[in-house]
Amino acid sequence: MNDKQLVALQAAKYVKSGMLVGLGTGSTANYFIAELARCQREEGLKITTVASSTISAQYAQSLQLAIVALEHISSIDLYVDGADEITSDMTLLKGRGSDLVKEKLLAKAAAQFIVVADASKLVSHIGQNFAIPIEVIPFAWQLAKKSLEAMGGTGNLRPNAANDGFWITSHGSYVLDMKFDASLAASTLNTLINNTPGVVEHGIFYGLSDAILIADNGTVSERCA
Ligand code: 5RP
Repeated sequence: MNDKQLVALQAAKYVKSGMLVGLGTGSTANYFIAELARCQREEGLKITTVASSTISAQYAQSLQLAIVALEHISSIDLYVDGADEITSDMTLLKGRGSDLVKEKLLAKAAAQFIVVADASKLVSHIGQNFAIPIEVIPFAWQLAKKSLEAMGGTGNLRPNAANDGFWITSHGSYVLDMKFDASLAASTLNTLINNTPGVVEHGIFYGLSDAILIADNGTVSERCA
């Protein structure tokens, strides 16, 4: 069993019958979804789920998990998702994919948000390994980019997979992948980007995680807020 699967199985222990559970997106989240389906099949677990992406919804449905649409919920019991970067103060960078908007809505709506990752995701500061994905309204991209550059950001619109156009998120936004000076605190950056007109959402998840489960060479450790 690899570390991503190990940590996902550990997170599944937090799931109890009757819960409404948010499903994250990515390879670690997929192991969690598969484990929920196994618990439903073999142990009689009874849950309802809400997905952070179409791909996770399709996977959950293929495993016979019950799904409700995001627009029908106002809170959830538990959200489990992966991350691209995790700092010691439990700030995350997420959104390498296209589903930031739903992911952050679920993280905020959850009574408990548990992050699952292997040790490769631990960093000393947000932006260490990846640019910060910033979803922008398509017609606002140039103005938003200019505002972000005024804060010291550098970057560009993310190209699409064929490299003949721009990446469109599941919410219909463009993505600016921006790098900032490492000395800028994630909390400051979070506020500055939140206050930028034209920005729909961004990949810094500040003050949202309740617990972080990290698997490192077969051992899981837990950090709580
Ligand atoms: C998607 C995410 C993922 O959780 C993140 O990219 C981690 O993915 P993986 O579990 O495949 O390493 O934020 O938007």
